[in-house]
Amino acid sequence: MAKIALVTGAGRGIGRDIAERLAREGFAVGLIARTQSQLEETAELIRKAGGKALVTPTDVSKREQVLAAVDKVEKELGPISVLINNAGAYLKKPLTEITEDEFDFQLKVNTYGPFFCTQAVVGRMAERGGGTIIFVLGSETRGGPAQYSAYTASKVAQRAIAESVAYEFMHRGVHAATLDVDGAVDSPRVREAMPDTDPSHFVSPEAICSEIVHLINQPKSSWTFGVDLRSYVQWRPRVAAKKKA
Ligand SMILES: NC(=O)c1ccc[n+]([C@@H]2O[C@H](COP(=O)([O-])OP(=O)(O)OC[C@H]3O[C@@H](n4cnc5c(N)ncnc54)[C@H](OP(=O)(O)O)[C@@H]3O)[C@@H](O)[C@H]2O)c1
Repeated sequence: MAKIALVTGAGRGIGRDIAERLAREGFAVGLIARTQSQLEETAELIRKAGGKALVTPTDVSKREQVLAAVDKVEKELGPISVLINNAGAYLKKPLTEITEDEFDFQLKVNTYGPFFCTQAVVGRMAERGGGTIIFVLGSETRGGPAQYSAYTASKVAQRAIAESVAYEFMHRGVHAATLDVDGAVDSPRVREAMPDTDPSHFVSPEAICSEIVHLINQPKSSWTFGVDLRSYVQWRPRVAAKKKA
């Protein structure tokens, strides 16, 4: 099977790490995010390391843009055999303060986005007899911590899509799996936001990338459909929001 991957949210953070790792594994990588300059940076890192990358600035919540990006990647790199649904929007806000637009936005990026991306590639994968689709989820799909209601709703819906895709397409050779990252992932942004947390308590991005490579390489006879990655320290607050002083 052609080694062509499409990674959403590849402009920074976990998506950039995944794109770089897949390129090191020999994949030509289509890069999706809205900010072109960040995608160019990711592509440059991949090319400097000897890999191949194509920048396709795209808003995953816009179906026409997703279809155009997938067509461009398939035309210029080849048939997509791996899709990583990683792009995400994040909102922490008290329930009573979340506006309709904010709620819509979470659903548009975290639910419609992976739905559109999957819809654009999965039929072609099935026609070719194989492919892997991975959905990068977070702790919120296991129950809603305080102040994450919109984000949680959108991620739970993404899990539902992932599980449906798995059962709808497994017999046609397409492996869909959820990768639930149950904790904060180590990055400069997270270290800055959580200065009091011991960095060894964060989930390692290398471990996420290795898990993705493992899922991609699994034999059809023995697929994993859901993976939980959790640090040995469960840092994420699952208690009620503290009252404002
Ligand atoms: N970081 C963590 O601790 C953590 C923990 C558990 C799970 N996760 C999950 O891991 C994924 C990546 O998180 P991250 O921390 O790496 O996020 P991040 O640093 O904020 O990066 C998000 C990426 O997604 C892109 N993106 C956002 N909205 C988009 C849209 N509408 N269309 C296309 N691309 C879009 C962003 O680029 P543009 O803004 O330029 O579009 C960026 O490249 C998310 O799904 C998140 O829920 C993260």
